[in-house]
Amino acid sequence: MSGEGENIVAEPLVYLNGEFLPYEAARIPVEDRGLQFADGVYEVVRYYDGRPFRMQQHLARLVRSAAGIELPLPPIEEIRQAMDALVERQGLRDATVYLQVTRGTAPRAHGLLPDPTPTVIAIARPARVIRPRPPLRVVTMSDDRWARCYLKTTALLPNALARERARRLGADDAIFVRDGFIMEATAANVFLVMKDRLLTPLLTNYILAGITREAVLELAASEGIPASEEPVPAHLIYQADEVFITGTNSELGPVVAVDGRTIGTGQPGPIFLRLLAAFDVAVHGAQPVGTGPA
Ligand SMILES: Cc1ncc(COP(=O)(O)O)c(C=O)c1O
Repeated sequence: MSGEGENIVAEPLVYLNGEFLPYEAARIPVEDRGLQFADGVYEVVRYYDGRPFRMQQHLARLVRSAAGIELPLPPIEEIRQAMDALVERQGLRDATVYLQVTRGTAPRAHGLLPDPTPTVIAIARPARVIRPRPPLRVVTMSDDRWARCYLKTTALLPNALARERARRLGADDAIFVRDGFIMEATAANVFLVMKDRLLTPLLTNYILAGITREAVLELAASEGIPASEEPVPAHLIYQADEVFITGTNSELGPVVAVDGRTIGTGQPGPIFLRLLAAFDVAVHGAQPVGTGPA
């Protein structure tokens, strides 16, 4: 999506199993189960002005994801400190930290070992606050993922393939549709605005409980914008006044076309803009947003 992947530091520091290593020195064994079976969970945390946004919620979701695949986690405080240290040591202010925990290394076998030693990897890269958010064109796509999308696992191949298919169709992202209902985008949740009311798919096992989604629902409540979480039939999306996606990377992203059909006026809508302004205040306090250095 536009804006992502910019400002890549060639050789960021890597946290690996308790050590901070130069990029080239950070290696994992070939039989790591993360590689062999996509046997792992992850989190992505955004830092603004050197401070993590909703770290507690990210860590709580990490614990839920790990429990969901029966993966024992190292002490959560260690994980938090590792992420903070990566940001601090590299002098980053606005950053995205990826944390992955796999079930560690074992001779290749489907069955789980009783006492695995997890592999813990974290990497921080600079992020840039991009305002205005670039308008997005999306395409709907049949959801061919598994039934445990509420767990944030590293098994992202269906998401990656859907994103690529969307790109080949000239779009920025795909929105998954299952049994006629909107689920989520490849790395974000979906909101519709219908007659000044926010609508977002109910949390089920088929979507991730996005931290940004939750933040936006809270912001809507404080802004006095009515919102409901309910099953969203796919056909409604074309009739929406506004559509936007939410995610740690995309923050709030305005969707201006779905399957080649223009949404609303074809511009980011007023409710989206109000919520984005409220989001900026929430992440930066009273500071203005958008023009500072990366
Ligand atoms: C499939 C999926 N849905 C939703 C989200 C949004 O979640 P969050 O707002 O916590 O980043 C993500 C984020 O990566 C995701 O991968």
